[in-house]
Amino acid sequence: MKILVLNGPNLNMLGIREPGIYGKNTFADLLALIEKTAREENLEIEQYQSNHEGCLVDKIQEAYGKFDGIVINPAAYTHTSVAILDALKAVSIPAVEVHISDVDAREPFRQISYAGMACVHTIKGRGFEGYREAILYLKEHYA
Ligand code: DQA
Repeated sequence: MKILVLNGPNLNMLGIREPGIYGKNTFADLLALIEKTAREENLEIEQYQSNHEGCLVDKIQEAYGKFDGIVINPAAYTHTSVAILDALKAVSIPAVEVHISDVDAREPFRQISYAGMACVHTIKGRGFEGYREAILYLKEHYA
């Protein structure tokens, strides 16, 4: 099974960025955790991070016909991007939405998720572990 893991803007700043909310572990730690999960679960995983909405849309489009599942943390674009929602709908690849923090317990604007409308499942507030859970969810339901 081939899974694409996508991270949106400012997630490359993990470890530096608001550690009280996102923790002290770095983005490199997150990449390593996902690579370890791929090895343990015998999955082919590609990871991509961008601060640019169009780059994320391009990557979702390029996944068509190549990947069996997508794990996506669109970060701030979660709450604004109809383009990412439409791209996920266009490719129809089962996608799981992940948020490190519990967005429901934060500002009201974080409680709207456009991308989530095209996702088969959402995991929030589980820290980095949420990515592992998302990968396992795709393996269990779509491998
Ligand atoms: C986030 C939550 C978003 O509201 C925020 O803009 C992010 C990160 C999370 O992982 O908790 O950048 O997606």
